[in-house]
Amino acid sequence: IIEAKRLASRCNSINELRDVVKSFEGCEIKKTSTNTVFSDGNPNANVMLIGEAPGANEDIQGIPFCGASGMLLDKMLRAIDLDRTKVYISNTVFWRPPGNRKPTDLELDMCRPFVEKHIALVVPKILILVGGIACYSLLDNIKTISKLRGKFHTYTNQYMSTSITTAAIFHPAYLLRQPQQKHLAWEDLKNIREYLNSNS
Ligand code: URA
Repeated sequence: IIEAKRLASRCNSINELRDVVKSFEGCEIKKTSTNTVFSDGNPNANVMLIGEAPGANEDIQGIPFCGASGMLLDKMLRAIDLDRTKVYISNTVFWRPPGNRKPTDLELDMCRPFVEKHIALVVPKILILVGGIACYSLLDNIKTISKLRGKFHTYTNQYMSTSITTAAIFHPAYLLRQPQQKHLAWEDLKNIREYLNSNS
């Protein structure tokens, strides 16, 4: 974790950060993965999304949210006039946890300096935390996503001098399992659209 912090603090561009993450050997899940999954989309976008962890498709292709969850995420984005040219996407960890288990606290702690630096380099107008794990790692390690969604939060970290408006939304994988919750996600997406309309 100390090494991750040291490496992250030195990066001055997204390309540098990508190279540092790709060659970082501290995280055990890298050993069982095929690819480092760093990001997708537009690094100059106003909107940055942080998901949970790469799954099987992401691991093979090296692109975040390119499987079934990604298809629903793209639909959700399209519903509020966004797509991958208008958003930037990454995750709380850069490698697939074996068998799609949740990332451990150690894995989250080790990747967090890179995620923090990533957000500090992008400086989006709004940060969207996709699912409970992203909220747990970056926003609040006690409150559940059900408590955190539905309102805006402010986010900052050790590499930032300002704070960023932040929303939490249900993870598309959860919505695929619990489609009756989609109406809440729709409320959250509409609030994000409204925020972008009045702040750009
Ligand atoms: N789920 C995530 O949280 N991230 C991905 O990249 C893919 C699925």
